[in-house]
Amino acid sequence: MSGEHSLYVGLMSGTSVDAIDSALVRCRHNTVDIVATHQHTIPPEIKQQVAAISHSGGDEIERMGVLDRALGLLFAEATISLLESAAVQPGQVKAIGSHGQTIRHRPPSAARDNAASFTLQIGDPNTIAEVTGITTVADFRRRDMAAGGEGAPLAPAFHAAVLSAPGVNRAVVNIGGIANATILDGNSLLMGFDSGPGNTLLDHWVLRHRAEPFDRDGAWSARGQVHPALLQRLLEHPYFRQTGPRSTGKEIFNLAWLDNVLGGFTDIAARDVQRTLAELTVTSIANAINACPITVSEVYICGGGSHNKHLMERLSVLLAPATVASTAQLGMDPDWVEAATFAWLASRTLDGLAGNAQVVTGAAGARVLGGIYRGA
Ligand SMILES: Nc1ncnc2c1ncn2[C@@H]1O[C@H](COP(=O)(O)OP(=O)(O)O)[C@@H](O)[C@H]1O
Ligand SMILES: [Mg+2]
Repeated sequence: MSGEHSLYVGLMSGTSVDAIDSALVRCRHNTVDIVATHQHTIPPEIKQQVAAISHSGGDEIERMGVLDRALGLLFAEATISLLESAAVQPGQVKAIGSHGQTIRHRPPSAARDNAASFTLQIGDPNTIAEVTGITTVADFRRRDMAAGGEGAPLAPAFHAAVLSAPGVNRAVVNIGGIANATILDGNSLLMGFDSGPGNTLLDHWVLRHRAEPFDRDGAWSARGQVHPALLQRLLEHPYFRQTGPRSTGKEIFNLAWLDNVLGGFTDIAARDVQRTLAELTVTSIANAINACPITVSEVYICGGGSHNKHLMERLSVLLAPATVASTAQLGMDPDWVEAATFAWLASRTLDGLAGNAQVVTGAAGARVLGGIYRGA
């Protein structure tokens, strides 16, 4: 593999729909270096369309088709902006790994009454390949699900490859809209799962009550009080009792669910609800890590939640004596771990290597993930 051909672009837009994270990454064996990054704005009307298509409604095929193309174009533009800022020509990039925008996620662990499991990420990769001229790998989750897996989380294999160390029991936790945790026994991947909500409930609650997209640094929640009975009721959700391969989404953890639980209480101040939601996030993460069969001594956080000082402080308390730090401590900027994951997954696919981890997703076996859309 020549030096110039080890460059990949990773594109990620998570459940938060806050922005398209694009990272230019150099992949060499199991070393992954982030060379340049660009956060691409998602226009409000596209955000609105994503929110609307994320649950059932009329004229879905039409709306999904239009949005699929629009997002594909936006992902292509994110790539072009990234490469311009880095002064890199498209021809120097071996491939783009595009996660796409999840609009439905119903994994086997959540499919009820024999309903088929499926997961759907949109953002047309044909359009990305056509507009950028760069080979694009996309649709990473559905092969794993076809093999009986959850299709998620996919990050643990990447965490094991690049953030593990021999002889150290580590956890890596990505706090995006949903939070996922990876448990590493030295270099070996022991477990990986979605622990439950990350920022999604916090974001939606602060938007409703303060018309802000998120609670900066967790300042508002830090001023509230945990409502123990509400926290207990929220933790009674059956998801938190699941073990083994599991993944979740906004289909389960959303304001409709919260409103339903809140219906059983009277007069909890909005700020105290926010505080309790923060406690739900950190308690579900800490409980899952503390329940795993090895004693974790180091916990590294990535994703937007790593900027929430209040969440980080509470995690330090709940996970002690394990140390809690950002993945920056390991040399990887927490804001770009997920985008780098999809660049790395694209490299795995082009090299004919599996991208899923059977122990995490529960798939029948290791699979080469995604479809390849050839560039110019
Ligand atoms: N300074 C901050 N304080 C509190 N929360 C933050 C901060 N910066 C980012 N976030 C949170 O991170 C979220 C975005 O995280 P991200 O990792 O991009 O999630 P996703 O993968 O779901 O898009 C925001 O919606 C917000 O909740
Ligand atoms: Mg995001």
